[in-house]
Amino acid sequence: MKRVLIAIGTRPELIKLAPVVREMRSRPEEFDVRVVLTGQHRELLDQMCEFFDLAVDADLEVMQPGQGLNKLMAKIMARFDVILDDIEPELVIAQGDTTTVLAAAMASYYRAIPFAHVEAGLRSGDLMSPFPEEGNRRAIGAVATWHFAPTLRAASNLLAEGIDPSRVFVTGNTVVDALLQTAARDDITTPEVATTPGKLTLITLHRRENFARLDGLLATLRTLAEENKDTTFVWPVHPNPSVRQRAYSALGDVENVRLIEPLDYGQFVHLMKRADLILTDSGGIQEEAPALGVPVLVLRDVTERPEGIEVGAAMLVGTNPQDVYKFASALLRDSLLAQRMRRAPSPYGDGLASKRIADVLETGTCASFQPTKAA
Ligand code: UD1
Ligand code: UDP
Repeated sequence: MKRVLIAIGTRPELIKLAPVVREMRSRPEEFDVRVVLTGQHRELLDQMCEFFDLAVDADLEVMQPGQGLNKLMAKIMARFDVILDDIEPELVIAQGDTTTVLAAAMASYYRAIPFAHVEAGLRSGDLMSPFPEEGNRRAIGAVATWHFAPTLRAASNLLAEGIDPSRVFVTGNTVVDALLQTAARDDITTPEVATTPGKLTLITLHRRENFARLDGLLATLRTLAEENKDTTFVWPVHPNPSVRQRAYSALGDVENVRLIEPLDYGQFVHLMKRADLILTDSGGIQEEAPALGVPVLVLRDVTERPEGIEVGAAMLVGTNPQDVYKFASALLRDSLLAQRMRRAPSPYGDGLASKRIADVLETGTCASFQPTKAA
């Protein structure tokens, strides 16, 4: 039996690794799975732990309000090192591109412990966007032993960087596993805001590289709301103080804007399904929206997830307020355009990514994820 340590720091990592933990724990003869939370996020992580009923073995409790990247990185590496001593894992697994993942990958590498990277190979091609995630991913890819690429494109990015092809597997994205498993649950309650009559646009914004442009984006959202009174704009606001305070002061008084607390995953999936349009700079929501058939405008200048744009499920609209206004207004008014986006295929997964990952770690191989047609 292999002792495996899974490290989780933020909300999206927990959502995307919960199905992997579940799959690996269903193979107790093969894997002894331990989960450590770094606690890079606190309330957001605790909310998701509860939702997925995830049993945790250790918590490094690193989060501080308004934390800086260097201090966060140093703190996680030092505390994670102690956990490596305690647990003595034969393999460490982490997902994505946050500071937690970079710290876990580097700490494992310095101890010569194999590291498996879930959602490997995403690249925007711009080291400053998303920042610092693009730099984190490249560094993680350089030291990882196993690379679980969600798509063929992500696998190609890794091969182009000289990664050993025998260590790269196309698995699909585990977020689709989480989405399908959540959709199948019968204990999800409808969030109150999803019962609002009329059209609904869902908003999320939290990226560091967008902080400098946030005021312009907030002014645009205000204009969009004032010009589209038949639509309720719902934004579950991220707790990062750099976003939260500015969102409430710019939009708190607009009648058809609902700023709400972050929702648990089940309720958020409900809200995404109910939405007519999503405006976001999130990574995970770019993957979920096409899987749910909801048009999504990506408020970023570049994306490491081009597949959704190529199949027509998403549009990359940038962060220039005039462009955001133009594209969002067009979609709010033109239902034919929205319909075309709704019909686009879902390129990111089929719900079996966690099984493929566990298969590789158990047997050394798996049957690759094959996206449907245009993807
Ligand atoms: C982090 C990740 C980002 C990921 C995002 C998901 C890095 C550098 N950034 O960004 O890649 O997309 O998580 O949401 O790894 N806070 C709370 N409670 C929480 C979570 C955050 O109060 O549960 C506040 C704290 O003041 C914290 C701040 O938000 O200091 C920033 O958190 P941090 O994890 O550094 O950055 P995010 O913007 O959340
Ligand atoms: N999400 C959630 N509740 C919310 C907002 C988002 O469950 O109130 C989920 C969303 O479905 C997606 C993930 O959180 O799976 C995205 O997290 P975030 O935007 O914080 O990070 P990113 O995806 O940009 O790394």
